[in-house]
Amino acid sequence: MPDRNSPIGIFDSGLGGLTVAREIFQLLPSEDVVYFGDVGRSPYGPRSKEIIMQFSRQDTNFLIEQEVKIIVAACNTASSIALEFLQKEYSLQILGVIEPGAVSAVQATRNGKIGVIGTVGTIHSNAYAKAIEAIDPKIKVFSMACPLFVPLVEEGYLDKEATFLIAEDYVSPLKTTGVDTLILGCTHYPLLKPVIRRVLGDKVNLIDSATETSRVVYQHLLKTEALNPKRSQGERKFYVSDVPEQFAQMARHFLGDAVRSVMRIDITKY
Ligand code: DGL
Repeated sequence: MPDRNSPIGIFDSGLGGLTVAREIFQLLPSEDVVYFGDVGRSPYGPRSKEIIMQFSRQDTNFLIEQEVKIIVAACNTASSIALEFLQKEYSLQILGVIEPGAVSAVQATRNGKIGVIGTVGTIHSNAYAKAIEAIDPKIKVFSMACPLFVPLVEEGYLDKEATFLIAEDYVSPLKTTGVDTLILGCTHYPLLKPVIRRVLGDKVNLIDSATETSRVVYQHLLKTEALNPKRSQGERKFYVSDVPEQFAQMARHFLGDAVRSVMRIDITKY
């Protein structure tokens, strides 16, 4: 049985996973958390399956060394491509963001048409479509890779006209399919909600996998009697594979809060 006083481990290709961390902090404030952002090797989105698996394994090894009680692969690309393999390889519980997002979308749709947007890696893996099909095979899924969204968010282009035009180009084709629900299948996309709303209007449900993922983490810890019993706020540690100052500076956009100390590690050692 995992030690309830141990931290929750979260890994991501970089900053985006902080949108998942934020939900976990809100729902489970007294849990200690170790976050690893692989900023030195980000983005994962356009990389090959082999590389994403190798990086995800190293990220996992680092978190295991921190003696975490559970691991969350916050990165949609890593979850899409490496989760199954990680779950087979390690005995520690490793959760991803795809299934929780798929569950939320299936609950939200009224007309059985769901759109998915994500990185090239996530969309080509078909992970969301497969997860939705496993829940309800009658649902139709329409997917679209949006590779420019990650750099736009990282450059702080959240509400610029240029971002709207690019969003229109990517997302408008989904409008013609009649989807009533859209999965924001990438850690960065929740920050583009206002722009995506402007393109799709307010009748389409926008699903953020992070919210449902935090509930799944909570349920899992509850079921395994691994919730941290302490009442004070948990300790939060942040590690990165390059330039901690830049991570600390940009973290606020994703987390809605400042991060105090960020430590750099050599992830290639893992
Ligand atoms: N974290 C990635 C994801 O959710 C986006 C950034 C990247 O491509 O590494 O897919």
